[in-house]
Amino acid sequence: MTQPAHKSHGAGVDITLREPRTEDGAAVAELIRQSPPLDVNSTYAYLLLCHHFASTCVVAERDGKVVGFISGYLPPSATDTFFVWQVAVHADARGCGLGLSMLRHLLLRPVSRHVRFLETTVSPSNGPSRGMFARLAKDLETDLTEQDLFDKSMFGSGSDHEDEKLLRIGPFH
Ligand SMILES: CC(C)(COP(=O)(O)OP(=O)(O)OC[C@H]1O[C@@H](n2cnc3c(N)ncnc32)[C@H](O)[C@@H]1OP(=O)(O)O)[C@@H](O)C(=O)NCCC(=O)NCCS
Repeated sequence: MTQPAHKSHGAGVDITLREPRTEDGAAVAELIRQSPPLDVNSTYAYLLLCHHFASTCVVAERDGKVVGFISGYLPPSATDTFFVWQVAVHADARGCGLGLSMLRHLLLRPVSRHVRFLETTVSPSNGPSRGMFARLAKDLETDLTEQDLFDKSMFGSGSDHEDEKLLRIGPFH
């Protein structure tokens, strides 16, 4: 079931948060391309996310343009956990609480009613991402733990990808 959109106030202008539609896939891919250090996946991957995983993904729209996106899913083995894959906020809309608003929006969706933990991975050098998740844990008055997950060697010898550490926030209600 499609969830209703709601308004957020980022960058001083009304921003609508809503489930993505398949038609958003190309715009989402473009936003990710403009949001280093995120890994750029294929446009096809974003079409699939918008099509099959709309209930656990969110698009932020301002004046008809996609200015924010989070991809996430409920891991099949842990249905009390929401896994956040990528978070992107357009450079023009950063620093106004949009990233946090999108995270809270996802946790308030009906699909998250049994969720008590949020997990994500971050690279050691991504200060803005770490700051955003630390702030979320503080706002939820719960713990944030960190452990190893994907070592840089797992990305292959030709890659300069950093480690991806697992952040786990919770429990919360
Ligand atoms: C990380 C990102 C999504 C944050 O989006 P945002 O909308 O600017 O974040 P918010 O305004 O909601 O900030 C929430 C909190 O995050 C922290 N934060 C945000 N930007 C920060 C920065 N540049 N440096 C340090 N902390 C930062 C702050 O604690 C902030 O809360 P506060 O200002 O009230 O203390 C955005 O910078 C982005 O798209 N970066 C490029 C892609 C990326 O790295 N994505 C995250 C990896 S999944």
